[in-house]
Amino acid sequence: MSRLRGHTAIITGASSGIGQGIAKRFAEDGANIVINYIGHPDGARETLKMVESAGAQGVIVQADVSKISEVESMMDETWKRLGSADILVNNAGVESRAPFLETREEDFDHVIAVNLKGPFFVTQAFVRKLAAEKKPGRVINISSVHEDIVFPAVAPYCASKGGLRMIMRTLAVELGALGITVNNIAPGAIATPLNRSLLKNKPKLDALLRHIPLNRLGTPEDVAAIASWLASDEASYITGATYYVDGGLSRYYNE
Ligand SMILES: NC(=O)c1ccc[n+]([C@@H]2O[C@H](COP(=O)([O-])OP(=O)(O)OC[C@H]3O[C@@H](n4cnc5c(N)ncnc54)[C@H](O)[C@@H]3O)[C@@H](O)[C@H]2O)c1
Repeated sequence: MSRLRGHTAIITGASSGIGQGIAKRFAEDGANIVINYIGHPDGARETLKMVESAGAQGVIVQADVSKISEVESMMDETWKRLGSADILVNNAGVESRAPFLETREEDFDHVIAVNLKGPFFVTQAFVRKLAAEKKPGRVINISSVHEDIVFPAVAPYCASKGGLRMIMRTLAVELGALGITVNNIAPGAIATPLNRSLLKNKPKLDALLRHIPLNRLGTPEDVAAIASWLASDEASYITGATYYVDGGLSRYYNE
């Protein structure tokens, strides 16, 4: 398919999991890709190989999405090396688990900095570039079913994703006049490094599967398919919405 030909996508946290899956899919659909990563150069190089095998151009840019100066440098480097970009996927995210009474300040701050402050200021830096050139664009946030449903002992993560839902809704209104759409994808349980401990814990995994009507974990490809559609011309009239990719989990959740 070539529905993203002529487009360039910046994907944060693209050295593993869902971000890597989206990079691969977007490249197969014809887009050039900015592969952002923070700590795994090997993973970023693996993503680059996937992008290049699909016949697309890829560039690797290291940046911590929670640091505004690094985010601005990432945008400058993107425009310098690829000319411009018009799709942003805010995918980078972290999770921290602890019962409420044991949650540490540094863990709360880290989750909020990466999952909430990150997408806010990455989007700001991206939209400033687009606005300067009067170009339309797409912002896709990888949120979570936990932007809506509770997850005991994971409150900071739920707060970050719930906050991301309201940032998405607000920016959809603010940026509509610029021709920039803003949407969230809310994955359920996807088999990625984020779920390392769950994947190794068979009783817990089986219990979770009993609450997923489609009776399997999701894959990065499941998430990438709707991201590709949201980035395409076919989704040009869609903004301010969350799309669930969860096998029905949010209708039957119990963990
Ligand atoms: N796996 C799931 O079940 C699931 C479910 C719902 C939502 N999500 C969301 O999907 C997104 C991707 O997660 P994943 O499951 O692919 O896990 P993952 O751990 O493979 O991916 C997260 C990526 O973010 C990167 N990252 C972390 N901090 C960063 C920072 N400060 N700057 C730049 N990059 C940073 C990591 O290096 C990693 O590559 C996250 O936002 C996560 O919350 C995942």
